[in-house]
Amino acid sequence: MTMAEAVPAALGPGVDRVDGRPKVLGAAHYPSDVTLPGMAHAALVRSTIAAGSIVRLDTARAADMLGVLTVITHENAGRLQKGKRNLFFPPPAAPLQDARISYHGQYVAVIVAETRQQAAAAARLIEVTYDRDEPVLTLDDAAASSQSNPYFIDMKRGDAKAAMATAEVTVEGTFTTSPETHNPLGPFTTVAQWHGDTLTVYDSTQNPFHVRAVLAASFGLAEDDVRVLSPYVGGGFGAGLRSWPHTILAALAARVVARPVQLSLTRPEMFTGVGHRPSTMQRLTIAATRDGKLVAIDHEGTSTASMGHEAPTRKPPTRKAPLQSLLKAPDEQPYPITAGTAAAYACPNVAARDKRVRLNIAPIAHMRAPGEAEGNFAIESLLDELSYELGMDPIDLRLRNYAEVQPQTGLPWSSKALRECYTVGAERFGWAQRDPTVGAMRDGRWLVGYGMAGVTFNHYQAKCHARATVHRDGTAHVCSGATDIGTGTYTVMTQLAAEVLGLPVDRVEFELGDTRLPQAPQAGGSGLTTALGSAVHNTCVALVQRVLTLVSDDADSPLRGCTIEDVVAHQGRLQHADDESRGETYSEILGRHGLSELTVDGDSAPSRAEAGVIVGSLVVSRLGRFGRKLVGASHATVPAGGFGARFVEVRVDPELGVLRIARIVSVNDAGRVVNEKLARSQIIGGTVGGIGMAIFEETVRDPDSGRVANATLSDYLIPVNADVPDIDVVFVGGPDPANPIGVKGVGEIGLVGVAAAIANGVYHATGRRIRSLPITIDKLL
Ligand code: MOS
Repeated sequence: MTMAEAVPAALGPGVDRVDGRPKVLGAAHYPSDVTLPGMAHAALVRSTIAAGSIVRLDTARAADMLGVLTVITHENAGRLQKGKRNLFFPPPAAPLQDARISYHGQYVAVIVAETRQQAAAAARLIEVTYDRDEPVLTLDDAAASSQSNPYFIDMKRGDAKAAMATAEVTVEGTFTTSPETHNPLGPFTTVAQWHGDTLTVYDSTQNPFHVRAVLAASFGLAEDDVRVLSPYVGGGFGAGLRSWPHTILAALAARVVARPVQLSLTRPEMFTGVGHRPSTMQRLTIAATRDGKLVAIDHEGTSTASMGHEAPTRKPPTRKAPLQSLLKAPDEQPYPITAGTAAAYACPNVAARDKRVRLNIAPIAHMRAPGEAEGNFAIESLLDELSYELGMDPIDLRLRNYAEVQPQTGLPWSSKALRECYTVGAERFGWAQRDPTVGAMRDGRWLVGYGMAGVTFNHYQAKCHARATVHRDGTAHVCSGATDIGTGTYTVMTQLAAEVLGLPVDRVEFELGDTRLPQAPQAGGSGLTTALGSAVHNTCVALVQRVLTLVSDDADSPLRGCTIEDVVAHQGRLQHADDESRGETYSEILGRHGLSELTVDGDSAPSRAEAGVIVGSLVVSRLGRFGRKLVGASHATVPAGGFGARFVEVRVDPELGVLRIARIVSVNDAGRVVNEKLARSQIIGGTVGGIGMAIFEETVRDPDSGRVANATLSDYLIPVNADVPDIDVVFVGGPDPANPIGVKGVGEIGLVGVAAAIANGVYHATGRRIRSLPITIDKLL
């Protein structure tokens, strides 16, 4: 077997995190650990109204405080230009530009002082007088402006309306989900330092190149004059995909005081400053034949967005070129609730569309499986209702409508092991022991419920660059300007490079978190391992080729004339695939040619690039509405997707309404799993997030003021250890041919389906069909 033919194992080893040691030893510096000589500290003042304007700002007392260096408000901030968007992420509104207020928590002042405590104390002395307008705060507020199809990614096939009219069985429901807040452990922090007209920032971000673009635009700089460093980020969950006003304000503050400035958000500021999962409302109708064949799905999702600071675009996207026109829409944050609907089941008639309502709330962000998690909750809950309506097992119903090909396009999936997700999961869970009768299973005082849900999740890949160097001492250095938000990127990239170069993992160093390194996309959309891993793979292959080129006419080399097809790399040595004795080490080759190192740049791209972005099943689905011609024309576009099944046992105390999650089996087809230990950890984390979504998490806003009323980690409920049962994580399927490393991404899929499986278990236990998340005690009494 040669390097070109080698098919890696579907399930990779559980290599420990290469960044584990520096993290445990405190050698890993997160942005909040960065201390620079002469560094000052900034604190923020936030609006206490949700709509209106500032009438008067009294900063005198704050400015007089010991240690205070400056107070910046809209009256003295100066003009900041608004940044450009990239495809998925609009720039933040430029902060402190005028007196208008459009959400509670909007920044109205920045104080810079010698210490963080001085800055925070001074911030409390700023007096703001407001002219208050009546805010629009809830999704069903009559005053809320609803905008249909804002992203033009709605999907259609067949004629859902006509099919509904004659269907034998129809089920329908309205589903709601609550706003959630990301709450990564590491409070988002920016440290900014100017050197003349160049700017360096350390930032908590999942998207350093977007931060760079936004900062460059804000201050009228060339992108090359801005450097963003983010080697360690204390979690993200999507909060770091966009860039945020506090990052701009840290840079502004540093320029004003001509010193480095650190600005670290407080936990309450994290609830308004770095986005949140918006609330959604979905109307869903599913029609089927008596024997369980789906005939039509009509799905409309509405999500909330921020008013003013994500203002309606002057030029809305057009149907002709949805992605290109989105790029020209500066403030649109796509939030595709129904995007997964058309891809999930083989149903001939589907109509799925998204709407948006603008409120006086802080800007939204993507949060782990944005939109898709909510859409899945509705679809998989209503399918469960349908299974009862038909008297059919929920797994049988799903298998009866299995999408053998991508149903929107008719194209074959790159790979799909959803059937195994169902069967393996059912087996491990003991689904056969389920008595389908509602309320039939009991354990003492507890009602026992078994619920399940299926998952079809979009696969996404963006363009990515990397650089690889082999040194004469036989070590390698590989790098790219991506981030590792705790997901394991450092480790997995080290493994992928080591695999191609034939080096032990400890001979490879992977560097990331610096925009001076080759450009990488955001750590998000479950797509970084695919994009960066493919770039690392391709770049390392190119490096081996470069080494072979070096010896192509080298009479002293046993590898003379070899191509990459002829060799394998093993233990720092390139050797003939069919004769291990004929080979030599990187050290020998570099040494003989008088080189201390050899470097190549490389990249990876999606199989079909649309507006600079890779196209998974999401965009294939989008393209589907324009006909297959467009898809067929490229031939390279392959519908790819991650798949999964969730099985949950719940226990409900019928007198107290207490709901406990007793067991979860999570089966996933995530393609090739490069590092089983880290992938399992991702799925467990996603599952815990799913439990949070299902039964705990809700960002509560005061209905009068719009203030977030539970903006602390003691008031905002998330699952703790006692709420999380043993989670059985299983991977099925194998390497996916859509990318050279065979992966599909594990960052988000684990969360999807958990809420529906829990809600379905609750119905099975109690007969209560809860269509509103989170499922709190009051809903079970
Ligand atoms: Mo995830 S919401 O793509 O960080």
